[in-house]
Amino acid sequence: MKYRRLIDNAKKPSGFWGRLMIRSMNKGHHELTDWALEHVKISNGLTVLDVGCGGGRTVSKLCQRVGSGKVYGIDYSQLCVQKSEKLNRKSILCQKAVIKQASVSQLPFEDDTFDLVTAIETYYFWPDKQGDLKEILRVLKPGGTLLLVFEMLKTDAEPDKWKRVEDRLNIKAVSREEIENALHSAGYTNVKSYTAGGTSRLCATAEKEAT
Ligand SMILES: C[S@@+](CC[C@H](N)C(=O)[O-])C[C@H]1O[C@@H](n2cnc3c(N)ncnc32)[C@H](O)[C@@H]1O
Repeated sequence: MKYRRLIDNAKKPSGFWGRLMIRSMNKGHHELTDWALEHVKISNGLTVLDVGCGGGRTVSKLCQRVGSGKVYGIDYSQLCVQKSEKLNRKSILCQKAVIKQASVSQLPFEDDTFDLVTAIETYYFWPDKQGDLKEILRVLKPGGTLLLVFEMLKTDAEPDKWKRVEDRLNIKAVSREEIENALHSAGYTNVKSYTAGGTSRLCATAEKEAT
């Protein structure tokens, strides 16, 4: 019962169980996020967006890496926005971080805004995956990079590994090929993907064509 209430809140955290889920995600995705961030170059001055920012720990990690740059986080859950703002209050006060309540399907940003967009463990929930990838492409600068990160990797060896979570949340684990194809179809270039042996981790990087 407790497991179900908790897991139900992975999709759009709210209320008591949402608070617990946010705490658990901030802790549980920490090492996955550090591993994935090793696959992109994050340098001083970059403008970065974290989509589906949850409890805001990735925003905080990014703030530590962008120097004089700026980090935005969006999430459609009001509770996630509150928790992310709380965790990043110092960076928000000095205008290094901004958190907004928004859907990935309609990002509240101008075209060509971000050098890097990250999305950790959120893609499964997006309502229109091709449209949403294109929406991210719109806000990336030419030459900018998208980093998609997953811990529900589907492999031929263990096709039913995630069945319980898939059924409960009505989502699907992802395969490496499927994500690469989705990124190509949405118009990204230089698509690459990475797994970590002995784990279910997958991350993919893809670029907006430089003009
Ligand atoms: C499993 S949590 C991951 C949170 C965070 N990225 C992390 O790694 O801890 C998924 C997050 O994606 C958000 N989310 C799901 N669908 C979304 C959408 N369509 N637009 C914006 N955020 C969304 C949820 O509210 C939730 O905070």
